[in-house]
Amino acid sequence: MTSAMVATFAGFAGFAASAQAQVKEVQMLHWWTSGGEAAALNVLKADLAKQGYAWKDVPVAGGGGEGAMTALKAMVAAGNPPMASQMLGYIVLEYAEGGKTGDITATATKEGWDKVVPKALQKFATYKGKWVAVPVNIHSVNWLWFNKAVFDKIGGAEPKTFDELIALLDKAKAAGVVPLAMGGQPWQEATMFDSVVMATGGADFYKKAFLDLDEAALKSDTMKKSFDNLAKMRSYTDPNYAGRDWNLATAMVIKGDALVQVMGDWAKGEFVNAKKTAGSDFLCFRFPATQGTVIYNSDMFAMFKVSADRQEAQNALASATMSPSFQSAFNVIKGSVPARTDVPDAAFDACGKKGMADLKEADAKGTLVGSLAQGYGQAPAIAQAYHDVVTKFFHGEIKTSESAVAELDKAINAAK
Ligand code: BGC
Repeated sequence: MTSAMVATFAGFAGFAASAQAQVKEVQMLHWWTSGGEAAALNVLKADLAKQGYAWKDVPVAGGGGEGAMTALKAMVAAGNPPMASQMLGYIVLEYAEGGKTGDITATATKEGWDKVVPKALQKFATYKGKWVAVPVNIHSVNWLWFNKAVFDKIGGAEPKTFDELIALLDKAKAAGVVPLAMGGQPWQEATMFDSVVMATGGADFYKKAFLDLDEAALKSDTMKKSFDNLAKMRSYTDPNYAGRDWNLATAMVIKGDALVQVMGDWAKGEFVNAKKTAGSDFLCFRFPATQGTVIYNSDMFAMFKVSADRQEAQNALASATMSPSFQSAFNVIKGSVPARTDVPDAAFDACGKKGMADLKEADAKGTLVGSLAQGYGQAPAIAQAYHDVVTKFFHGEIKTSESAVAELDKAINAAK
């Protein structure tokens, strides 16, 4: 356990004491500790404050939520879960299966959520016909985020193919700019690999390999080529990328120290928080050869069982999260798009509007697919195996694409 985690656990002792005390209090465990993330969450805090609810914050730093999920597991095991927790996909279902989640179906029915939340998301927000979580957004991971001034300086054009992206990275290198802003943490590398696999093999291949776990696809030449392509990208990072937090990598692009970051659209939250404007300060393009497909994840607030006197606060939290005006205001700041299909795109910038249009198109075409790196492809143990193999390859512990393919197949089968 790291010293930061020890400090976090020490904080939970105080949390336990106050958990009993307040009936008009909502509690939320989350990993939204970057500038953009915190700014977005403030919208919810303010909305609930207006209704007279105090906010009990349980933040656990660490992009992708690995630290948060470890902390949550300990709290649940100790019989002291928070009222709600940020959570991704299959993890919600695991807690539901374990009998730990609460039931907000009455609020869902009253407000008609089943008519406005995409079916793909309902699969993770409900369990055996009961609502156990609320989706606050839809993120997608197959994006490129460019510093516009650097892009213009090197004579950039939108890369439509993987080779065009590589050519652009070469230009940045020649101009003395770090081509690829990278955070070398397992979840970030795996998140980038989702896009690389999609670009290399297309949507059908991605689905076969990552959603169906088809052996032939997992062991295919296309998977080997995907690792080759990932290795190519690795050669464009700066030497200090290992361990870097995702938002510090975004900051390199914001400052013009790097050309581009491959990251989910939470990166846009950092640009917005730094008062940068889409189209003039930064550019968003789909990862090359993935236009028309959306690799998504959705932040859910999963609800834990609470005593009868705290049910009202939990319902208020769920209802505030699902309010259309909140979903607009929050997602404009967060970089994601609303989880409700009936929220207008008027308040969103060019990247947000594109995100919403792409989502609609992908949903209609059957190319809206869950992110394996971000909890929407497979159960947590398999996602973890994926992170492990991709990071070992990225950091050179697994040396060749051939062995990466074999290790990935082995690790996934062992985790099944
Ligand atoms: C979450 C985002 C968050 C990102 C970085 C992802 O797993 O879905 O909401 O901003 O991690 O912390």
